[in-house]
Amino acid sequence: MAILNIVKDGDEILRKKSREVTVPDPRIDTLLDDMKETMAKANGVGLAAVQVGKLRRVIVIDTGEEQLELINPVRIKEEGVQETLEGCLSCPGQWGVTRRPEKVVVETLDRKGKKRRVKGEGLLAKAICHEMDHLEGKLFYDEAVRMLTPEELEAYEQA
Ligand code: NI
Repeated sequence: MAILNIVKDGDEILRKKSREVTVPDPRIDTLLDDMKETMAKANGVGLAAVQVGKLRRVIVIDTGEEQLELINPVRIKEEGVQETLEGCLSCPGQWGVTRRPEKVVVETLDRKGKKRRVKGEGLLAKAICHEMDHLEGKLFYDEAVRMLTPEELEAYEQA
């Protein structure tokens, strides 16, 4: 496994659309393992492959309670609304309030290429939506309700 470099906001690759992958593929296994290690090192909740410079529809998530690998995910259902604070490993120092579905259902492939359905609620739903936006070249602040002011950010970081 390897720690990969996380691409930062301003790099145009983050604005590109990621491509579907074919699994099983040992290179995708390696990518997933490296992404997990990279996310853990950075204390992140989620990471999309584009954030390590690979335009592939591959995501890892770890909310602390739930761990997920998403490959070519498609959102098939969403329900409710949550407004919470959100940030991104590619956007250090930027935090904003976003509006996301409270619950989502996605169809994804596992490493072997088998189709699975995954349900997410609360933080997991937010993470799934945030990471799936990365696959389309979107960043969380594009549609944030509002971003924290420098004063709010300072108070938040000290809390
Ligand atoms: Ni992000």
